[in-house]
Amino acid sequence: MRHEMLNTNGFRRGGALACVLLAALAGCKQPDGATSQNGGAAGGTAAGGGTSTGGAATADIGKAAPYKGDNILLGEYGALTGSTASFGNSTHNGIQMAIDEANKAGGVLGKQIALQSEDDAGKPEEAATAVKKLINSNNVLAILGEVASSRSLAAAPICQKAGVPMLTPSSTNPEVTKVGDYIFRTCFIDPFQGRVLAEFARNNLKAQTVAVLTDSKQDYSTALSKFFQKEYKNLGGKVVAEEFYVTDDKDFRAQLTNIKGKNPDVIFIPGYYTDAGNIAIQVRSLGMNQPLLGGDGWDSPALMQIGKKAVQGTYFSTHYSADSPDPKVVKFVTAYRKAFKATPDSNGAVAYDAARLMIDAIKRAGSTDRAKIRDALASTKNFAGVTGNITIGPDRNAVKPIVVLQVKGDKLAVAAAIKAG
Ligand code: PHE
Repeated sequence: MRHEMLNTNGFRRGGALACVLLAALAGCKQPDGATSQNGGAAGGTAAGGGTSTGGAATADIGKAAPYKGDNILLGEYGALTGSTASFGNSTHNGIQMAIDEANKAGGVLGKQIALQSEDDAGKPEEAATAVKKLINSNNVLAILGEVASSRSLAAAPICQKAGVPMLTPSSTNPEVTKVGDYIFRTCFIDPFQGRVLAEFARNNLKAQTVAVLTDSKQDYSTALSKFFQKEYKNLGGKVVAEEFYVTDDKDFRAQLTNIKGKNPDVIFIPGYYTDAGNIAIQVRSLGMNQPLLGGDGWDSPALMQIGKKAVQGTYFSTHYSADSPDPKVVKFVTAYRKAFKATPDSNGAVAYDAARLMIDAIKRAGSTDRAKIRDALASTKNFAGVTGNITIGPDRNAVKPIVVLQVKGDKLAVAAAIKAG
């Protein structure tokens, strides 16, 4: 069985980027004298993997002021600009759609829901600044974001220390939710994604050897690379080359020439779509015809716009297929296309799920007490999302299915569908 999904609308910038700042909330400062944080790991203790989010980054963070809004104000931070802008824009669309639907149905706790969006330009430091603003100036009730793990890792210690629930739709690095008990996610994690990709390379692509080209600047890339390689070796495969680049690099020929010398069966590129598209072009221009493989970081219509012919036939794992016959997915994709004139990529879908889950948790909490919302998120069971059912485990992660898609013309075909595990 193969589903093909139309993806012809291409990359669409954020559409109506509704930044709603309620006048009543503006300038709402946190109280003097920070009280101790609520339970869980202290801010800055666990954000491993090369980010600059130590204790110093949270030294000035106090507990958030109690929620005072007349509406329910949610905060969102993401890359609305920069080389991963499609992450932020798709995420914003998904969140906005969930909020619009909820508001039409009467809102939550008898109040309408509003959204304050902050652009972090794809930079961890700006992600930290953005959540500080959302908490201290806007007094948001809870926070949605980020997509990229390094940005979530930079912001999570601040949310944790302030006692503001943070729900990342799609950051897959395992360290993110380890930051503390206010930090949740609605997606699978990279040990699972790495295993699925290793199995796909070994069993589906029958690769005896792989080369890996990792983005050393992204916690997502370095960890996914590590999990993939471990599993691939366990499966009897050989990693014949390991090369590195840095986000937004333009010239990959030195690394690719080394890889070419090893003639691997497959090249695995655990990075984000702009770099992956550019790498694919240089791979092909060096005369290498191997299958290319990526993770969810490739999931953007911009991959095809950048890589064009060079990404034809490539594979990547991700959170859902817009072409699924599941009635929930069909309904979501139809409504999203109508609203945004684009087919939702995984970020659109998983952000829609995350926003719906956050609203549901506020409803179940029955209160704007953030500790109660935290508890409601933690006790989520079988929440029906378009990217799969969401049950939040004791580690505050969700266990979800994975699909592997293949670029075919302007379509994305399902090459493999793997159950949650
Ligand atoms: N999982 C990626 C990360 O943790 C982010 C991502 C999710 C990118 C979904 C694209 C689609 O960095």
